Order: sequence, then C-alpha cells, then structure tokens
Amino acid sequence: MQEYHIAVIPGDGIGQEVCPEGLKVLNTAAEVSGSFRLHYDFFPWGCEYYLQKGEMMPAGGLKTLQSFDAIYFGAVGFPNVPDHISLRGLRLPICQGFEQYANIRPSLLLPGIPGALRNKKVGDIDFIVVRENTEGEYAGAGGRAHRGLPIEVAVETSIFSRVGVERIIRYAFKLARSRPRKRLANVTKSNAQQHTLTFWDEIFAEVGKEYPDITTERVLVDAMAARFVLKPESLDVVVASNLFADILTDLGGAICGSLGLAPSANLNPERHYPSMFEPVHGSAPDIFGQGIANPIGMIWSGALMLDFLGETRAANLIVAAISAVTGEGRLLPPDLGGSASTQQLGDAIAARLRDLAG
Ligand code: IPM
Ligand code: MG
Repeated sequence: MQEYHIAVIPGDGIGQEVCPEGLKVLNTAAEVSGSFRLHYDFFPWGCEYYLQKGEMMPAGGLKTLQSFDAIYFGAVGFPNVPDHISLRGLRLPICQGFEQYANIRPSLLLPGIPGALRNKKVGDIDFIVVRENTEGEYAGAGGRAHRGLPIEVAVETSIFSRVGVERIIRYAFKLARSRPRKRLANVTKSNAQQHTLTFWDEIFAEVGKEYPDITTERVLVDAMAARFVLKPESLDVVVASNLFADILTDLGGAICGSLGLAPSANLNPERHYPSMFEPVHGSAPDIFGQGIANPIGMIWSGALMLDFLGETRAANLIVAAISAVTGEGRLLPPDLGGSASTQQLGDAIAARLRDLAG
C-alpha cells in the first residue's frame, strides 16, 4: 500500500469550507482505489493565526512542510489583514521557498455548464496555462521613497532570470509534448517591455529548437485576452509570466463558467520540495460562512495532486465524477446558477466517484 503524507492548510474564508469537501473526495478516491492511503496533518495558518501570533505561519513553517509529499491549500487573505501581509506571509514564501516554479492552471469546459461564451460545447475549451510562479512581476524587488511628500516615488521591478525563464518554458514544452495537439503559445508583451520580455522571447526561441515536434506561436498578452474569448478552441498550452498568467487565468476560469471551478497546481517538477495544490479562487469573504462556496476548484485541485503523486487513475476518476455531477445539472452551486450547498456538492461528487469506481 502506497502511503502519502499531506500537509493541509485550509487557510482563510471559504478555504475552510471547501477544504473538507476536497478531503472527503480524496478519501473516497483512496478508499475505492484500494492501493494508496492519505495521511493528513492540519496547519491552522492564515489570517486568524496572524492576528493571534503576529505572523501568518511560524518561523520554521517551511521546514515543517518540507517533509510532506504534497501541500493541499485552501485560500489565503481576509479583510482583517492587509493583502500584501497575508500573501507575502504564507502563499508566496511556500511557492518561492519550495521552487514551485510551474503553476499549472487548466481551463476545461465541463458538461452541463453553460460557460460565459456563446455556442461553446464540451471539447471547445480545453487548454492549460503554465504560469511562471517564482519571479517576474511578483519578485518583490522595489521600494518607496520620499513617503508622504509630493515627490514620493514607488518602484517595483520585475525580475527575469535565465534560469527562471528557461525552466518554465522547458516545462511548458514538455507539457505540450504530452498532449495530443502539441501546440504551445508563448505570451509576452515584448513590443512594450523591451528588456525583460524580449529576453523571454529569445529564450523561448532557443528552447524551442529542442522541441521541433511542437507547433509554437508568439502572442501578445492583450491579443491573447481577446483570443481566450473569441477562439479558445485554438489553444492547447499557453505559457506566460507570473502576472500575465495571473490575469489570463481569471479569464480562463470565467469562460468555463466560474472561477469557483478552476483548479491549480504549484509544482516543483524536480520534486526536491513538496508541491502545492489549491483552487484558483481566493477566500471570498463576501460569501464566507454561508456554506454556498463552490468546492469544485478545491476538489479538482485534489485530482491534480493525486496525478502528480502518480495516482493517475484516481485523479481521472475524480474529474470524471465532477463532470458527471455537473453534466446531470441537478446539483449546481449558486455561482453556476444553482442552489446546492458546498457540502451537498462534495457529497454528490464523492458518491458519484464511488459509482464510477464500482
Ligand atoms: C491567484 C491569486 C493570487 C495571485 C493573489 C491572491 C495574490 O490572484 O492565485 O491567481 O495573484 O497570485
Ligand atoms: Mg489570480
């Protein structure tokens, strides 16, 4: 029996509500597989923790997490703590400290979900955004001077290293190679960002020489935003910098019906450190406490986790169970026009998973 040790950080807001549903489905997947077991350690880190202890996670937090096979993460941020503190105190240190440089964000139109676009059917939207996850516009380099004076200035420098750019582009090429259409779109804005993103484009061209079987294209980020809406069926794998992919993946979630559906994986592909799996949506303070948050993004992120751990069959079963439940259309959460509760959906997906494994 394969054993996996998972660090669970439900975090803030609806992270706490969707996490139990994710675990419910993961447990069901383990049970029906009969070939692996999941062990969880829970960490109460986040904004509440910060208000009590003055830090989002304890000083040795990363060291504690390092021994786990994976991290299952809900959401971070709440109005009672400034965003830059909560983000820079928990999620970013994990992504950067564990070199989770590949943030994988699939956009897949599920059956039974109308989506936001007219005339799109299942199969028309099926692409993956590969987001650079450790540097770029999120590097945190910069500062403020002359605070409070009329001459006050703020500088935030994006940082692109050869190592950082090369590894994310290579990851994207490999991912494109594993998919039937073998297409990769490189998104930059090198007509305006003349230093960093021309550098990125050059590296893309260099690495591309090693992958002659992949069809590539270069698309400016503004044009890509329009393409997500007008012609998503033309996309397979899309690689972009930290901020560009952040923006594009909200749009990617929206065209598939709701941000509440979108899963993500923060991968350290070399497996030197644990990887982290979390829904794309945030802590959603506006709906927290009502039991109506959509748990699908969290449940689907659990599938990405199992897939990365090598439990591909179980991962596929979870996605099939999600599709079966949305396809039936009886139980949908409020963000998809239904009235099912977070828990009802978790129960339904777990039950469906059992049937499918049957
Ligand atoms: C995301 C989120 C975060 C990000 C926020 C909460 C800082 O938007 O994961 O896409 O920009 O990385
Ligand atoms: Mg975002």
